[in-house]
Amino acid sequence: MPKTVLILDFGAQYSQLIARRVRELGVYTEIVPHDTPWSVLSERDPAALILSGGPASTLTPDAPDMDPAIVRSGLPILGICYGMQLVARQLDADLVKLDHAEYGPAALLVADPQTPLFAGVAPESRVWMSHGDTVTKLPAGYDVLASTTRCRVAAMGSRISNIYGTQFHPEVVHTQYGRTILKNFLHTIAALPSDWEMGSYVDRAIGEIRAQVGDDKVICALSGGVDSAVAATLVARAIGEQLTCIFVDHGLLRKDESAQVLAAFRDVLHLNVIAVDARERFLGKLAGVADPEQKRIIIGHEFIRVFEEEAAKIPGVKYLVQGTLYPDVIESKTPASKAGHKIKSHHNVGGLPETMNFTLVEPLRTLFKDEVRELGRVLGLPEHIVARQPFPGPGLAVRIIGDITEERLDIVRNADAVVREEIDGATLDPHPWQYFAVLTPVRSVGVMGDGRTYDNLVAVRAITSEDGMTADWARLPHSLLERISTRIVNEVRGVNRVAYDITSKPPSTVEWE
Ligand code: XMP
Repeated sequence: MPKTVLILDFGAQYSQLIARRVRELGVYTEIVPHDTPWSVLSERDPAALILSGGPASTLTPDAPDMDPAIVRSGLPILGICYGMQLVARQLDADLVKLDHAEYGPAALLVADPQTPLFAGVAPESRVWMSHGDTVTKLPAGYDVLASTTRCRVAAMGSRISNIYGTQFHPEVVHTQYGRTILKNFLHTIAALPSDWEMGSYVDRAIGEIRAQVGDDKVICALSGGVDSAVAATLVARAIGEQLTCIFVDHGLLRKDESAQVLAAFRDVLHLNVIAVDARERFLGKLAGVADPEQKRIIIGHEFIRVFEEEAAKIPGVKYLVQGTLYPDVIESKTPASKAGHKIKSHHNVGGLPETMNFTLVEPLRTLFKDEVRELGRVLGLPEHIVARQPFPGPGLAVRIIGDITEERLDIVRNADAVVREEIDGATLDPHPWQYFAVLTPVRSVGVMGDGRTYDNLVAVRAITSEDGMTADWARLPHSLLERISTRIVNEVRGVNRVAYDITSKPPSTVEWE
């Protein structure tokens, strides 16, 4: 088992980013709530601790705190932003509120070139700041390691206690030597090797799945997406024939998708798959429904019903595999009051209710999305599944504005196939994160051959994004857009006009519904 770094989360938007950076450096890490007592932390036998930033001020009375035993634990600690201020406060340093908070880039001047934290860092470099308070008097035994014009204690540390702090954020890409600084902390100060890699994860996960499941039967809902595919493959590696996968074709999938997904699961991965053709059933329920939320709810409910019916046909099933990822695990611990405003009821679709009488097997619950893809590759999943763009649970239903009919599904499916074929075949940097066609409810006049047409408007959406939370429209070359447009109008019956969506998220969303 690789050594673990624990990140105490003080509510920073960047906590997950810290975790990803640490794992990118080959060190296993997990995020834990800031108020976890030392007695609980020490049971995990961490090799080092990182204290995240956070929106609060340590100068306010009920600021998030941590167990004072932590700074006395003797473990190497890196406090980032709020994390550094909290270490300072617990060690009786002085802090003050700045007249004006400092956000954004700043020039960092290294004050102590000998410190291991800044080995390989240029004497002056760009860092990213985001703070309202600053340390004015250091804790006893600590030195100023770096400063900026507006912040004298931009980094502090003590070689004796092995505790370091940076007022800036080494985890964000805008900090020029951020990776070097984190690397120095992990590999030099905490003396951790790079031993977190997918091969060893597979062996460990297989052992855990076997221990959890024993001889019992397990089922899994395959959606065609990366997460369920990787989760199912991993579980199948562990328990083989004890796993049955259920693939529900709701008729809202992309062109040839159902056949491709089944072929990959059955023929390439040799998974035990029950395929349910529920196309008519879903289309029947969706007839005449134009409201996006209503569509999602109907599809979500129907999915659960079909799945339950199929599961009931397999006697003695005790476990259900879910492709839950680490970000969902962390987010679900956020108090409800902090949870974001509901924009779309995403996760209700394709998710299965907790009231189902199964115990969950969640073999991906400590992984980030990019790690899941890597795991898929290690497990030998075909690239067309591993590198798949995200596809919403309710499928093409949310890409048809208005009523869903067979005819309209055909239009969006064929237009989408053109968009994917063209963009998949192009060399683009960065490659868009998602790209698809949307069928609008708009009809417009056109002319084809000698005749007037009055046909559908298809919109093309292609976005760049890191995680789907924010997105920008992809600057596709005009020649590519031209090919897409020409091919859609020529090849997809019922379309005489193509528009390209040039809005970012926010203010728009990725999907149109
Ligand atoms: P939005 O449209 O909210 O999408 O900007 C963000 C990301 O989530 C995907 N998405 C969904 N995924 N069920 C899903 O499983 C849904 O109902 C759903 N709606 C949007 C979307 O494709 C994008 O990647």
